[in-house]
Amino acid sequence: MELTWEELEEKCKNCHACPLGDTRTNLVFGCGDRNAKLMFVGEAPGENEDLSGIPFVGRAGKLFDKFLEAVDIPRESVYIANMLKCRPPKNRDPKPEEEDLCIEYLRQQVKLIKPALIVCLGRISAQRLIRPDFKITKEHGVWFTKGSYKMCAVYHPSLLLRDPRKKEDMLIDMQAVKAELDKLS
Ligand code: URA
Repeated sequence: MELTWEELEEKCKNCHACPLGDTRTNLVFGCGDRNAKLMFVGEAPGENEDLSGIPFVGRAGKLFDKFLEAVDIPRESVYIANMLKCRPPKNRDPKPEEEDLCIEYLRQQVKLIKPALIVCLGRISAQRLIRPDFKITKEHGVWFTKGSYKMCAVYHPSLLLRDPRKKEDMLIDMQAVKAELDKLS
């Protein structure tokens, strides 16, 4: 069943399907243009996201903003969401059972937005949304067609903070994302 945005957000706000629903400060539902052609999907909220209720606003988010700016994609023109809507304690990786319980909310968001392009931020969302054995070092920036969507994955901005040498590849991948976006108009 397809929900409206209001119904979906309300459902997420009331969600206690997994224990993260009890430990969150705020739900991190997603933000941006609900009619975006391009959607980014990260992993899960971190501390700053949990405190603000907005995805990618911490150090990694600020770095991601720089890449968006570098390729001339206004942040408010895209939609940004995470696989998990609540913060895992101490920023640990999402557990498969948490992903299983939360992924339907993301599916509903995708159904409502109907983006042409979905870009996974990092290995974890790529392995869930593209292919379980997705290899981020080999396959970042490679486009896949899934139903009516074109999908690819780029490095997670947190990884770029730990390994700045990968920023060059990130810029190339983001330029390719912009080129795909430009093809649509
Ligand atoms: N990392 C993510 O994957 N998502 C966020 O919202 C913040 C950091």
